[in-house]
Amino acid sequence: MPTVYIKTFGCQMNVHDSEKISGIFSESGYGQTESVKDADVIVLNTCSVRQKAEQKVYSDLGRLRLIKQKNPALKIAVAGCIAQQIGSSLFKKFPYVDFVFGPGNIDKLEEWINGRSKSTPADSERILTRGQVTALGDNPGYSAKTLPLKREGRVKAWVSIMHGCDNFCSYCVVPYTRGRERSRTSRDICSEVQDIAGQGFKEITLLGQNVNSYGRKQEEKTDFPDLLKVIHEVPGIERIRFVTSHPRDLSEKLIDCIRDLHKICEHIHLPIQAGSDRILNLMNRRYTYQQYKEKIGMLRTAIPDIAITTDIIAGFPGETDEDFNYTINALKEIEFDGIFAFKYSERPDTKALNLPEHVDEDIKAQRLSQVLELQASITYNKNKALEGKAVEILVEGVSETDKHRLTGRTRTNKIVNFPGDPKNIRSSSSIRLSSSQANRSKRKNSLIGRLIYVKILEAKQHSLYGELV
Ligand code: SAH
Ligand code: SF4
Ligand code: F3S
Repeated sequence: MPTVYIKTFGCQMNVHDSEKISGIFSESGYGQTESVKDADVIVLNTCSVRQKAEQKVYSDLGRLRLIKQKNPALKIAVAGCIAQQIGSSLFKKFPYVDFVFGPGNIDKLEEWINGRSKSTPADSERILTRGQVTALGDNPGYSAKTLPLKREGRVKAWVSIMHGCDNFCSYCVVPYTRGRERSRTSRDICSEVQDIAGQGFKEITLLGQNVNSYGRKQEEKTDFPDLLKVIHEVPGIERIRFVTSHPRDLSEKLIDCIRDLHKICEHIHLPIQAGSDRILNLMNRRYTYQQYKEKIGMLRTAIPDIAITTDIIAGFPGETDEDFNYTINALKEIEFDGIFAFKYSERPDTKALNLPEHVDEDIKAQRLSQVLELQASITYNKNKALEGKAVEILVEGVSETDKHRLTGRTRTNKIVNFPGDPKNIRSSSSIRLSSSQANRSKRKNSLIGRLIYVKILEAKQHSLYGELV
């Protein structure tokens, strides 16, 4: 059986795209390998959101030159956002790359793999491509297509509800790499969710660059809260999450939904990016700090236990010490549960590139570490406040760092590790299962995939440690 090695960079959307890539290879008779040397095909699914992400891909591609020299039959494909951004000029720098395809052309992979197999089915001759091929252009039906998927794990699944982004934040390359915003129909999404539930998955995460604007350009008059209500009815799914929300489009209707629909987890990722109105304006975010804070107030009034996480960019062009202090102030005032923070990174095609007064690299680095240090203590204190409490977690599997521990997440998306055997419910009579799980408790003698309660014994910086209740 021929094999494919797939490496993924970047966001959850890219990880999910890799599940599609993997699904297409699997349907075409390929096995998956973890070894670059054994692979017949190598796919790098790339990210270009920051320079660092891009450099990682180039250094991987550099290393592949030797591997291809030793094995000239090897085929190399570059997918994802760098593929879309750089296009066929990738072949100039890396002439041993065979196929370059963008995030909106994953369906074209099937033709590339199987083109020749119709007449010559021998495995060794299955790859059609002679010479270099790209699939980067407009592909109008793509969002409506159902691609085969090879999902990772058995507990949590991703569902893309829309592709692309129309926001054009001035620093961001995504609207250029993922194209215009397109929503899938609620019917297609629901049937995918039903299918996922039928396979035994318990949690879904709805994916889009800006889920709050779901359906805006559709004929069908279903907005994001409407979509959530429909999905909430699908039996078998116990938890619903979604990323990412744009603060400007976060509506009261959505907040009511999170409050009223019990399957929707109490967590929202709401990127603020900066605390200074002047910088937010230059970023083209289209909200002020005050407006952002009002949304936080509405969320916390409606859902007191909600966890709020965010993204921060340090050192955006023109950011003065005073502007930066507004960001520090925002972190102190809002007290996020967690943040992702980045140094501003110059991206091709984006408007911010041409803004005056780019910030020195060492100042960006210093601001970033200030942000991270401040947030570390806020996150730790929030985790500490959970000590002694029993929390519901969905058990996802064995901890990566300790095979005697199981791991899962709270509804608020915090990681919890606890001693446990993946195959056995020890002292099962004493485990307090969620009511909806109680009936199923005897079906399979494993905790993985179950909602259970864990008492938090110790807070750590990035996780919690507890014991089964
Ligand atoms: N659609 C999502 C995620 C976009 S990318 C959103 O709107 O939030 C994820 C994060 O990467 C962004 O929120 C932003 O904080 C960061 N980011 C994007 N472009 C960047 C750049 N050029 N430099 C630094 N950080 C960037
Ligand atoms: Fe990028 Fe802004 Fe779109 Fe997010 S909303 S993907 S940051 S342009
Ligand atoms: Fe990266 Fe593209 Fe995602 S640039 S963050 S892989 S949308």
